[in-house]
Amino acid sequence: MYRVPTQHGKLCVVTGANSGTGKEAARRLAGAGANVVLAVRNVDKGAAALEAIAAQFPAATLTVRELDLADLASVERFAAAMVEENVPIDVLLNNGGVMAPPTRMESVDGFELQFATNFLGHFAVTLRLLPLLLAAAGPTVTTMSSSAAAYGRITFDDLQRQRHYRPFTAYAQSKLADLLFAQHLALVANERGWDLMSNATHPGYTRTNLFDAGANLGRTRPKRSLFGDLRYLPAQGVEQGTEPMLYGATSPDATNGAYYGPRGPLGLTGATTLVATPRRARHPEVAARLWSVAEGLTGVTIPASI
Ligand SMILES: NC(=O)c1ccc[n+]([C@@H]2O[C@H](COP(=O)([O-])OP(=O)(O)OC[C@H]3O[C@@H](n4cnc5c(N)ncnc54)[C@H](OP(=O)(O)O)[C@@H]3O)[C@@H](O)[C@H]2O)c1
Repeated sequence: MYRVPTQHGKLCVVTGANSGTGKEAARRLAGAGANVVLAVRNVDKGAAALEAIAAQFPAATLTVRELDLADLASVERFAAAMVEENVPIDVLLNNGGVMAPPTRMESVDGFELQFATNFLGHFAVTLRLLPLLLAAAGPTVTTMSSSAAAYGRITFDDLQRQRHYRPFTAYAQSKLADLLFAQHLALVANERGWDLMSNATHPGYTRTNLFDAGANLGRTRPKRSLFGDLRYLPAQGVEQGTEPMLYGATSPDATNGAYYGPRGPLGLTGATTLVATPRRARHPEVAARLWSVAEGLTGVTIPASI
Protein backbone atom coordinates (compact mmCIF):
# COMPACT_ATOMS: atom_id res chain seq x y z
CA MET A 1 0.00 0.00 0.00
CA TYR A 2 1.39 3.46 -0.96
CA ARG A 3 2.29 5.45 2.10
CA VAL A 4 1.75 9.21 1.75
CA PRO A 5 4.93 11.00 2.86
CA THR A 6 4.58 13.59 5.59
CA GLN A 7 2.38 16.52 4.59
CA HIS A 8 2.84 18.56 7.77
CA GLY A 9 2.52 22.26 7.05
CA LYS A 10 0.84 21.64 3.68
CA LEU A 11 -2.61 22.68 2.53
CA CYS A 12 -4.40 20.17 0.30
CA VAL A 13 -7.71 20.88 -1.43
CA VAL A 14 -9.79 17.87 -2.52
CA THR A 15 -12.89 18.26 -4.70
CA GLY A 16 -15.68 15.72 -4.21
CA ALA A 17 -14.14 14.88 -0.83
CA ASN A 18 -17.28 13.51 0.83
CA SER A 19 -17.29 10.18 -0.97
CA GLY A 20 -15.22 7.54 -2.77
CA THR A 21 -11.67 8.35 -3.80
CA GLY A 22 -12.01 11.99 -2.70
CA LYS A 23 -12.91 11.02 0.86
CA GLU A 24 -10.18 8.41 0.97
CA ALA A 25 -7.61 10.90 -0.36
CA ALA A 26 -8.69 13.46 2.26
CA ARG A 27 -8.37 10.77 4.95
CA ARG A 28 -4.89 9.68 3.91
CA LEU A 29 -3.64 13.26 3.46
CA ALA A 30 -5.01 14.18 6.88
CA GLY A 31 -3.33 11.08 8.32
CA ALA A 32 -0.04 12.32 6.84
CA GLY A 33 -0.45 15.63 8.66
CA ALA A 34 -1.89 17.87 5.92
CA ASN A 35 -4.36 20.64 6.49
CA VAL A 36 -7.20 19.44 4.23
CA VAL A 37 -10.03 21.39 2.63
CA LEU A 38 -12.95 19.14 1.73
CA ALA A 39 -14.49 20.96 -1.23
CA VAL A 40 -18.00 19.55 -1.60
CA ARG A 41 -21.32 20.56 -3.07
CA ASN A 42 -23.30 19.25 -0.10
CA VAL A 43 -21.88 20.59 3.16
CA ASP A 44 -23.84 18.12 5.30
CA LYS A 45 -22.25 15.22 3.46
CA GLY A 46 -18.92 17.04 3.78
CA ALA A 47 -19.41 17.40 7.54
CA ALA A 48 -20.15 13.68 7.85
CA ALA A 49 -16.94 12.86 5.97
CA LEU A 50 -15.00 15.30 8.15
CA GLU A 51 -16.35 13.67 11.30
CA ALA A 52 -15.38 10.21 10.09
CA ILE A 53 -11.84 11.35 9.28
CA ALA A 54 -11.52 13.36 12.50
CA ALA A 55 -12.60 10.29 14.49
CA GLN A 56 -9.58 8.47 13.12
CA PHE A 57 -7.19 11.45 13.19
CA PRO A 58 -8.35 13.76 16.01
CA ALA A 59 -5.36 16.10 15.54
CA ALA A 60 -6.11 16.66 11.84
CA THR A 61 -6.99 20.12 10.56
CA LEU A 62 -10.00 19.68 8.29
CA THR A 63 -12.36 22.22 6.80
CA VAL A 64 -15.51 21.75 4.75
CA ARG A 65 -16.18 24.31 2.03
CA GLU A 66 -18.99 24.47 -0.48
CA LEU A 67 -18.00 23.93 -4.09
CA ASP A 68 -20.49 22.92 -6.77
CA LEU A 69 -18.39 22.13 -9.81
CA ALA A 70 -21.50 22.31 -12.01
CA ASP A 71 -22.09 25.96 -11.08
CA LEU A 72 -19.48 28.47 -12.18
CA ALA A 73 -20.76 31.06 -9.68
CA SER A 74 -20.13 28.52 -6.90
CA VAL A 75 -16.63 27.90 -8.26
CA GLU A 76 -16.00 31.64 -8.24
CA ARG A 77 -17.29 32.03 -4.65
CA PHE A 78 -15.20 29.09 -3.43
CA ALA A 79 -12.00 30.34 -5.08
CA ALA A 80 -12.58 33.98 -4.08
CA ALA A 81 -12.92 32.98 -0.42
CA MET A 82 -9.72 30.94 -0.59
CA VAL A 83 -7.83 33.76 -2.34
CA GLU A 84 -9.12 36.22 0.25
CA GLU A 85 -7.62 34.06 3.01
CA ASN A 86 -4.38 33.96 1.03
CA VAL A 87 -3.02 30.62 2.28
CA PRO A 88 -0.76 28.92 -0.30
CA ILE A 89 -2.15 25.64 -1.67
CA ASP A 90 0.35 22.80 -1.97
CA VAL A 91 -1.91 20.16 -3.49
CA LEU A 92 -5.11 20.45 -5.52
CA LEU A 93 -6.92 17.20 -6.26
CA ASN A 94 -9.40 17.66 -9.10
CA ASN A 95 -11.37 14.58 -8.16
CA GLY A 96 -15.14 15.18 -8.03
CA GLY A 97 -17.21 13.76 -10.84
CA VAL A 98 -20.42 12.31 -12.16
CA MET A 99 -20.84 9.45 -14.60
CA ALA A 100 -23.44 8.68 -17.22
CA PRO A 101 -26.79 10.23 -16.31
CA PRO A 102 -29.26 8.24 -18.44
CA THR A 103 -30.62 11.33 -20.15
CA ARG A 104 -28.85 14.53 -21.11
CA MET A 105 -28.77 16.92 -18.16
CA GLU A 106 -27.39 20.44 -17.85
CA SER A 107 -25.47 22.39 -15.28
CA VAL A 108 -26.94 25.65 -14.00
CA ASP A 109 -24.83 27.39 -16.65
CA GLY A 110 -26.43 25.33 -19.43
CA PHE A 111 -23.53 22.95 -20.15
CA GLU A 112 -23.88 19.17 -20.45
CA LEU A 113 -23.62 17.97 -16.85
CA GLN A 114 -20.59 15.69 -17.16
CA PHE A 115 -18.60 18.14 -19.27
CA ALA A 116 -19.49 20.87 -16.77
CA THR A 117 -18.78 18.92 -13.57
CA ASN A 118 -15.84 16.78 -14.55
CA PHE A 119 -14.01 19.24 -16.77
CA LEU A 120 -15.21 22.88 -16.88
CA GLY A 121 -15.61 23.16 -13.10
CA HIS A 122 -12.10 21.83 -12.53
CA PHE A 123 -10.67 24.00 -15.29
CA ALA A 124 -12.19 27.12 -13.70
CA VAL A 125 -11.29 26.27 -10.11
CA THR A 126 -7.69 25.43 -11.01
CA LEU A 127 -7.12 28.68 -12.91
CA ARG A 128 -8.78 30.71 -10.18
CA LEU A 129 -6.59 29.05 -7.51
CA LEU A 130 -3.35 29.48 -9.48
CA PRO A 131 -2.19 32.52 -7.42
CA LEU A 132 -2.39 30.38 -4.26
CA LEU A 133 -0.83 27.33 -5.92
CA LEU A 134 2.08 29.36 -7.24
CA ALA A 135 2.58 30.88 -3.79
CA ALA A 136 3.40 27.38 -2.45
CA ALA A 137 6.77 25.66 -2.79
CA GLY A 138 6.49 22.98 -5.49
CA PRO A 139 2.68 22.76 -5.75
CA THR A 140 0.91 19.88 -7.47
CA VAL A 141 -2.38 19.72 -9.37
CA THR A 142 -3.53 16.14 -9.86
CA THR A 143 -6.57 15.65 -12.06
CA MET A 144 -8.71 12.52 -12.05
CA SER A 145 -9.31 11.06 -15.49
CA SER A 146 -10.55 7.55 -16.29
CA SER A 147 -9.74 4.60 -18.50
CA ALA A 148 -12.88 5.79 -20.32
CA ALA A 149 -10.71 8.63 -21.70
CA ALA A 150 -9.26 6.12 -24.17
CA TYR A 151 -12.68 5.92 -25.84
CA GLY A 152 -13.37 9.64 -25.66
CA ARG A 153 -13.54 12.11 -28.50
CA ILE A 154 -13.54 15.88 -28.13
CA THR A 155 -16.41 16.79 -30.42
CA PHE A 156 -15.73 20.49 -30.87
CA ASP A 157 -18.85 21.04 -32.97
CA ASP A 158 -21.10 19.43 -30.31
CA LEU A 159 -19.21 19.63 -27.01
CA GLN A 160 -22.46 19.90 -25.07
CA ARG A 161 -23.88 16.81 -26.80
CA GLN A 162 -27.02 18.63 -27.86
CA ARG A 163 -27.26 16.81 -31.20
CA HIS A 164 -26.54 13.37 -29.91
CA TYR A 165 -26.40 12.31 -26.25
CA ARG A 166 -25.09 8.94 -25.19
CA PRO A 167 -24.32 8.65 -21.46
CA PHE A 168 -20.93 6.92 -21.71
CA THR A 169 -19.80 8.81 -24.80
CA ALA A 170 -20.36 12.09 -22.99
CA TYR A 171 -18.59 10.72 -19.88
CA ALA A 172 -15.62 9.58 -21.98
CA GLN A 173 -15.38 13.02 -23.59
CA SER A 174 -15.33 14.71 -20.18
CA LYS A 175 -12.61 12.38 -18.89
CA LEU A 176 -10.50 12.81 -22.02
CA ALA A 177 -10.93 16.55 -21.48
CA ASP A 178 -9.58 16.11 -17.92
CA LEU A 179 -6.52 14.28 -19.22
CA LEU A 180 -5.86 16.86 -21.95
CA PHE A 181 -6.29 19.63 -19.38
CA ALA A 182 -3.73 18.07 -17.03
CA GLN A 183 -1.26 17.72 -19.89
CA HIS A 184 -1.74 21.25 -21.17
CA LEU A 185 -1.35 22.67 -17.67
CA ALA A 186 1.94 20.76 -17.42
CA LEU A 187 3.05 22.37 -20.69
CA VAL A 188 1.98 25.86 -19.60
CA ALA A 189 3.88 25.37 -16.32
CA ASN A 190 7.02 24.41 -18.28
CA GLU A 191 6.69 27.28 -20.73
CA ARG A 192 6.18 29.84 -17.98
CA GLY A 193 8.88 28.41 -15.75
CA TRP A 194 6.44 27.69 -12.91
CA ASP A 195 7.54 25.27 -10.22
CA LEU A 196 4.13 23.59 -10.54
CA MET A 197 3.55 19.93 -11.35
CA SER A 198 0.39 18.88 -13.17
CA ASN A 199 -0.34 15.22 -13.70
CA ALA A 200 -3.33 12.97 -14.28
CA THR A 201 -4.49 9.72 -12.74
CA HIS A 202 -7.21 7.13 -12.98
CA PRO A 203 -8.40 4.62 -10.35
CA GLY A 204 -9.05 1.64 -12.62
CA TYR A 205 -12.30 0.07 -11.50
CA THR A 206 -12.90 1.05 -7.91
CA ARG A 207 -16.03 0.30 -5.89
CA THR A 208 -17.59 3.70 -5.08
CA ASN A 209 -20.93 5.52 -5.41
CA LEU A 210 -20.04 6.58 -8.94
CA PHE A 211 -21.86 3.68 -10.53
CA ASP A 212 -25.15 4.46 -8.78
CA ALA A 213 -25.07 8.25 -8.48
CA GLY A 214 -25.12 9.24 -12.16
CA ALA A 215 -27.23 6.28 -13.29
CA ASN A 216 -29.99 7.34 -10.92
CA LEU A 217 -30.07 11.02 -11.80
CA GLY A 218 -33.53 12.03 -12.96
CA ARG A 219 -35.06 8.66 -12.04
CA THR A 220 -37.98 8.38 -9.67
CA ARG A 221 -37.38 4.67 -9.04
CA PRO A 222 -33.77 3.77 -8.20
CA LYS A 223 -31.93 1.65 -10.76
CA ARG A 224 -30.03 -1.33 -9.45
CA SER A 225 -26.30 -0.73 -9.25
CA LEU A 226 -24.25 -0.79 -12.43
CA PHE A 227 -21.91 -3.00 -10.40
CA GLY A 228 -24.32 -5.81 -11.23
CA ASP A 229 -23.69 -5.30 -14.96
CA LEU A 230 -19.93 -5.11 -14.45
CA ARG A 231 -19.62 -7.93 -11.90
CA TYR A 232 -17.28 -10.05 -14.00
CA LEU A 233 -14.63 -7.34 -14.19
CA PRO A 234 -11.89 -7.22 -11.56
CA ALA A 235 -12.61 -4.40 -9.12
CA GLN A 236 -10.79 -2.97 -6.12
CA GLY A 237 -11.57 -1.19 -2.87
CA VAL A 238 -11.22 2.53 -2.42
CA GLU A 239 -7.96 2.28 -0.41
CA GLN A 240 -6.20 0.81 -3.43
CA GLY A 241 -8.17 2.80 -6.00
CA THR A 242 -7.14 6.14 -4.51
CA GLU A 243 -3.45 5.36 -4.68
CA PRO A 244 -2.69 6.63 -8.19
CA MET A 245 -4.11 10.03 -7.23
CA LEU A 246 -2.20 10.10 -3.93
CA TYR A 247 0.97 9.01 -5.71
CA GLY A 248 0.60 11.66 -8.43
CA ALA A 249 0.01 14.34 -5.81
CA THR A 250 2.57 13.44 -3.15
CA SER A 251 5.27 11.07 -4.37
CA PRO A 252 8.72 12.61 -4.73
CA ASP A 253 9.00 10.45 -7.87
CA ALA A 254 5.85 11.81 -9.55
CA THR A 255 6.52 13.96 -12.58
CA ASN A 256 4.97 16.81 -14.53
CA GLY A 257 2.66 15.66 -17.35
CA ALA A 258 2.63 12.01 -16.22
CA TYR A 259 -0.42 9.72 -16.07
CA TYR A 260 -0.74 7.21 -13.22
CA GLY A 261 -3.08 4.26 -12.78
CA PRO A 262 -3.24 0.65 -11.64
CA ARG A 263 -0.82 -1.82 -13.19
CA GLY A 264 -3.06 -4.92 -13.04
CA PRO A 265 -5.06 -6.69 -15.77
CA LEU A 266 -6.74 -4.21 -18.14
CA GLY A 267 -5.52 -1.43 -15.84
CA LEU A 268 -8.52 -2.04 -13.58
CA THR A 269 -6.82 -3.02 -10.32
CA GLY A 270 -3.43 -3.22 -8.66
CA ALA A 271 -0.49 -1.19 -7.50
CA THR A 272 0.17 2.22 -8.98
CA THR A 273 2.31 2.64 -12.06
CA LEU A 274 3.01 5.13 -14.82
CA VAL A 275 0.46 4.27 -17.51
CA ALA A 276 0.55 4.96 -21.22
CA THR A 277 -1.35 8.01 -22.37
CA PRO A 278 -4.18 6.79 -24.60
CA ARG A 279 -3.79 7.57 -28.30
CA ARG A 280 -6.62 10.08 -28.25
CA ALA A 281 -4.85 12.12 -25.60
CA ARG A 282 -1.62 12.40 -27.61
CA HIS A 283 -2.66 15.54 -29.46
CA PRO A 284 -1.22 18.69 -27.87
CA GLU A 285 -3.02 20.84 -30.46
CA VAL A 286 -6.37 19.40 -29.34
CA ALA A 287 -5.45 20.09 -25.70
CA ALA A 288 -4.52 23.70 -26.56
CA ARG A 289 -7.75 24.21 -28.51
CA LEU A 290 -9.84 22.71 -25.71
CA TRP A 291 -8.13 25.00 -23.18
CA SER A 292 -9.00 28.03 -25.25
CA VAL A 293 -12.61 26.86 -25.74
CA ALA A 294 -12.87 26.31 -21.97
CA GLU A 295 -11.61 29.86 -21.37
CA GLY A 296 -14.44 31.11 -23.58
CA LEU A 297 -17.11 28.94 -21.96
CA THR A 298 -16.12 29.66 -18.36
CA GLY A 299 -14.87 33.21 -18.80
CA VAL A 300 -11.86 32.19 -16.71
CA THR A 301 -8.26 32.69 -17.85
CA ILE A 302 -4.88 32.58 -16.15
CA PRO A 303 -4.91 35.66 -13.89
CA ALA A 304 -3.03 38.57 -15.49
CA SER A 305 -1.08 39.09 -12.25
CA ILE A 306 0.78 35.81 -12.76
N1 LIG B 1 -14.76 4.53 -9.27
C1 LIG B 1 -14.18 4.26 -10.41
O1 LIG B 1 -13.97 3.10 -10.80
C2 LIG B 1 -13.73 5.37 -11.29
C3 LIG B 1 -13.17 5.05 -12.54
C4 LIG B 1 -12.69 6.07 -13.34
C5 LIG B 1 -12.74 7.38 -12.90
N2 LIG B 1 -13.31 7.68 -11.70
C6 LIG B 1 -13.35 9.09 -11.29
O2 LIG B 1 -13.02 9.21 -9.92
C7 LIG B 1 -13.58 10.42 -9.40
C8 LIG B 1 -14.21 10.15 -8.05
O3 LIG B 1 -15.33 9.32 -8.22
P1 LIG B 1 -15.68 8.15 -7.20
O4 LIG B 1 -15.45 6.89 -7.93
O5 LIG B 1 -15.01 8.37 -5.91
O6 LIG B 1 -17.27 8.33 -7.10
P2 LIG B 1 -18.19 8.92 -5.94
O7 LIG B 1 -18.04 8.14 -4.71
O8 LIG B 1 -19.54 9.03 -6.57
O9 LIG B 1 -17.59 10.38 -5.69
C9 LIG B 1 -17.84 11.41 -6.58
C10 LIG B 1 -17.73 12.71 -5.81
O10 LIG B 1 -17.91 13.79 -6.73
C11 LIG B 1 -18.86 14.67 -6.14
N3 LIG B 1 -19.57 15.49 -7.10
C12 LIG B 1 -20.45 15.10 -8.06
N4 LIG B 1 -20.95 16.17 -8.67
C13 LIG B 1 -20.37 17.26 -8.11
C14 LIG B 1 -20.50 18.65 -8.28
N5 LIG B 1 -21.35 19.17 -9.17
N6 LIG B 1 -19.77 19.48 -7.51
C15 LIG B 1 -18.93 18.98 -6.58
N7 LIG B 1 -18.77 17.68 -6.35
C16 LIG B 1 -19.49 16.83 -7.10
C17 LIG B 1 -19.80 13.76 -5.37
O11 LIG B 1 -20.57 14.51 -4.45
P3 LIG B 1 -22.03 13.98 -3.99
O12 LIG B 1 -21.80 12.90 -2.99
O13 LIG B 1 -22.67 15.21 -3.45
O14 LIG B 1 -22.71 13.46 -5.23
C18 LIG B 1 -18.79 12.85 -4.72
O15 LIG B 1 -18.22 13.47 -3.60
C19 LIG B 1 -14.55 10.92 -10.48
O16 LIG B 1 -13.93 11.97 -11.19
C20 LIG B 1 -14.73 9.72 -11.39
O17 LIG B 1 -15.04 10.10 -12.72
C21 LIG B 1 -13.80 6.70 -10.89
